[in-house]
Amino acid sequence: MSRLEELRRRHAAAELGGGEERRRRQHKEGKLSARERIEFLLDDGAFEELDKLVAHRCREFGMEEQVVPGDGFLTGWGYIDSRLVYVFAQDFTVFGGSLSESNAQKICKLMDLALKNGAPLIGLNDSGGARIQEGVLSLGGYADIFLRNTLASGVVPQISAIMGPCAGGAVYSPAITDFVFMVNGTGYMFVTGPDVIKTVTHEDVTKERLGGAHTHNETSGVGHFIAADDAECLRMIRELLAYLPRNNREDAPRRATSDPADRRDPELDSIVPEDPSVPYDMKDVIGRVIDDGEFFEVHEHFARNIVTGFAHMDGRSVGIVANQPAFLAGCLDIDSSVKGARFVRFCDAFNIPILTFEDVPGFLPGTDQEFGGIIRHGAKLLYAYAEATVPKITVITRKAYGGAYCVMGSKHLRTDVNFAYPTAEIAVMGAEGAVNIIYKREFSTAVDPESARRERIAEFRERFASPFIAAERGFVDDVIEPRDTRPRVIRALRMLENKVDTMPRKKHGNIPL
Ligand code: HXC
Repeated sequence: MSRLEELRRRHAAAELGGGEERRRRQHKEGKLSARERIEFLLDDGAFEELDKLVAHRCREFGMEEQVVPGDGFLTGWGYIDSRLVYVFAQDFTVFGGSLSESNAQKICKLMDLALKNGAPLIGLNDSGGARIQEGVLSLGGYADIFLRNTLASGVVPQISAIMGPCAGGAVYSPAITDFVFMVNGTGYMFVTGPDVIKTVTHEDVTKERLGGAHTHNETSGVGHFIAADDAECLRMIRELLAYLPRNNREDAPRRATSDPADRRDPELDSIVPEDPSVPYDMKDVIGRVIDDGEFFEVHEHFARNIVTGFAHMDGRSVGIVANQPAFLAGCLDIDSSVKGARFVRFCDAFNIPILTFEDVPGFLPGTDQEFGGIIRHGAKLLYAYAEATVPKITVITRKAYGGAYCVMGSKHLRTDVNFAYPTAEIAVMGAEGAVNIIYKREFSTAVDPESARRERIAEFRERFASPFIAAERGFVDDVIEPRDTRPRVIRALRMLENKVDTMPRKKHGNIPL
């Protein structure tokens, strides 16, 4: 066989992966092959593969008889919307996509390139974790990857897709990355699968409940996005990248828009109900303010009392954090604090301005929250906002009560521009709770306690539950007509375009983890 024929044979073997039968099974489950996934993800014909001929070196358990060129991992670079990305995909048909020493080296090579050249890293995961036959060599390989995930964190965006049953290292590496996409019905994440759980704790649990896309998107918060199938997942990754810079030294790309920067929206004037106890959907406010109403929501199904996501304003990428009065009255609890904090830190790391919409009645009270450590978790959000040096703008639409006032991008945490709607209520707590405390003695001796209470509530609301005391102090820069939100925010963003702010010299802070 000539060298050329030999080369072609090896390439063909790499492309076949674990064989026809396993490929058929992969397709039957509704999954694309690793190579099809990469082709779908990248611009047409853009994939440049690396290490296609790498082989594993294991000589135990008869492994020497089963060598597939590439060893079940595809690595390389390519382009999405003509912008450079690095990508790897695990091929479940080769030893369940498990990680050998050799393919750990492939991934590390790729990660080193991504870090040196400043472009996002995308991992398409479909893997049973460390290759059992290789023992500590594969464990070491994962640790080498975890190190690089950590070094790359905050330098280049790292995106993970979970497109098959992923266990062990195949979930811990994604957990260090910035965003985790999961395919519903085929993507699973667990430290150990149902069989091991049954052996150790005798608990019966299905794969779906233990680590399916819904579990991780709704309950654990490990997943940020849920996709109906492989194709949708890959399309969503492309969409996300349009909001992100390639690395922490660049700005996100600007996008052309025909949505006028000076567009006013009279509907906004009546979007916040008169009665402070009536909910409304904060996403309606967001949709009316951003370019073309296009909001790319992150963590849509988790901690829905806070909304996070990307949008464009005047063609510039912004990260939006918003309390959601339509869910749990928009209160801050453990999950929403952690969700918000993580998003704020991502934006800050990648030069994406943060726009906050605030309507928050406070932190959720109760033993569940206190025992779960709301003090520590709420502090994360506080810390994240305080630490962020990117342009920060806050719009208070209604309630800004208590500690939550401080946390949600208040002026005191060096937010650059703070606006409030006339409906804003900035106070230590809601009027009813407040008068019950400060007039308790008066009410206990009043002839008609109910009417005394009503009077005090009205008086409190008039004096304290308004934006005007904060505006008199300069804690909000202006009370604006809601219809003007878009032009006012855009003008503030333009003004802040070259903002530079710094942190004191330190190795790193100690965020309350
Ligand atoms: C070698 C593996 C493998 C592994 C699967 N395979 N996992 N080979 N090492 N880790 C192989 C199987 O032998 C099988 O080969 C093929 O992949 C498909 O596996 P199935 O079990 O038939 O598939 P399925 O029923 O879909 O189950 C998938 C699975 C399960 C849930 C991933 O295979 C599983 O539980 N695997 C082990 C997961 C695990 O505990 N990994 C180690 C984690 S420790 P054939 O030849 O039959 O096709 C780890 C440490 C990192 O990663 C450090 C973390 C901090």
